[in-house]
Amino acid sequence: MSELRFDERVALVTGAGGGLGREHALLLASRGAAVMVNDLGSPTMGGQDHDATPAENVVAEIRALGGIASSNSDSVATRDGAESMVSATIEEFGGLDIVINNAGIIRNRTFLNIGEYEFEPVLDVHVKGCFYVTRPAYEHMKSVGYGRIINTSSGSGLFGSFGQSAYSAAKAAIYGFTRTLAIEGARYGIHVNAIAPGALTRMTGDVLGDDGEIADMTGLTGEDLLMQLGPQQVAPAVVYLAHETCALNGETLSASGGRVARAFMGVTKGIYEEDLTLESVAERIEAICDETNYVVPDNVDKEMQLLLEHFETEK
Ligand code: NAI
Repeated sequence: MSELRFDERVALVTGAGGGLGREHALLLASRGAAVMVNDLGSPTMGGQDHDATPAENVVAEIRALGGIASSNSDSVATRDGAESMVSATIEEFGGLDIVINNAGIIRNRTFLNIGEYEFEPVLDVHVKGCFYVTRPAYEHMKSVGYGRIINTSSGSGLFGSFGQSAYSAAKAAIYGFTRTLAIEGARYGIHVNAIAPGALTRMTGDVLGDDGEIADMTGLTGEDLLMQLGPQQVAPAVVYLAHETCALNGETLSASGGRVARAFMGVTKGIYEEDLTLESVAERIEAICDETNYVVPDNVDKEMQLLLEHFETEK
């Protein structure tokens, strides 16, 4: 297969001053894209601290390798910040083809220990951040009839994770946001997909680092662990979703440690009863939950169609 290139393409990668975002930016730039490296330079838990250095350092790295990049340190969590990073990208590079919504923070607390003051910032950065950045970018993409948007969800949002109610809520919201934008954007040539990554970064150091389960199971530590679980093992899946030849739309790829898989929402065949009662649900709960021949609807109308098909066969 010939090398997948991004010459003449312009990408905005949020939260790209380190971790996964940095790797996405480096890979895009190495394949010819002009990259706007955005990063607020915030701590893992978020907050008011602001540091332009992480984004500037990644830009220096890209330029040293012969790539094209510019930095921005606005916050994705404010409408002004998001609009400013999108317009700066378009002004600097003359367009915007790719947005990777990657910026994120985390606050781990079991449900009864998490207050509104901690729940909100997590939703602000992830959910509002995706909305604020995508809105002006999508308008531009619609005007030129082309775009690739990749949102960062998480296994925590898709499958659940102890102590992460705020983060799970935010990441599941991103999944739904991605599905609907994909449906709406298709007619404008805009593809919207998501990534559910797993990588050793500062965000996951305590779980995936030297003291974590994977280090225990594999015996890998330090540089070896980073080679196996680093963000470079995720970026190719993300950057593929950004390529013009990628036909996927509305999909979520789960990528970690070199493993790439498709994650999706399905519905079981279920049961039908003309006069559903509480007892019939109780009696048939196993059949309701039976995953045999489950269906993966393209959209909510396709799910409704399952019922209509049943009515048709009953006629
Ligand atoms: P990271 O902490 O290394 O990177 C996140 C970056 O986002 C930081 O550089 C931070 O300064 C930036 N950021 C935070 N708030 C911002 C804001 N308001 N505006 C602009 N930039 C902001 O963490 P990592 O692991 O690279 O995470 C990247 C994304 O992947 C996040 O969305 C995270 O939730 C997600 N993720 C990561 C997983 C992993 O295993 N590392 C697992 C699942 C999801």
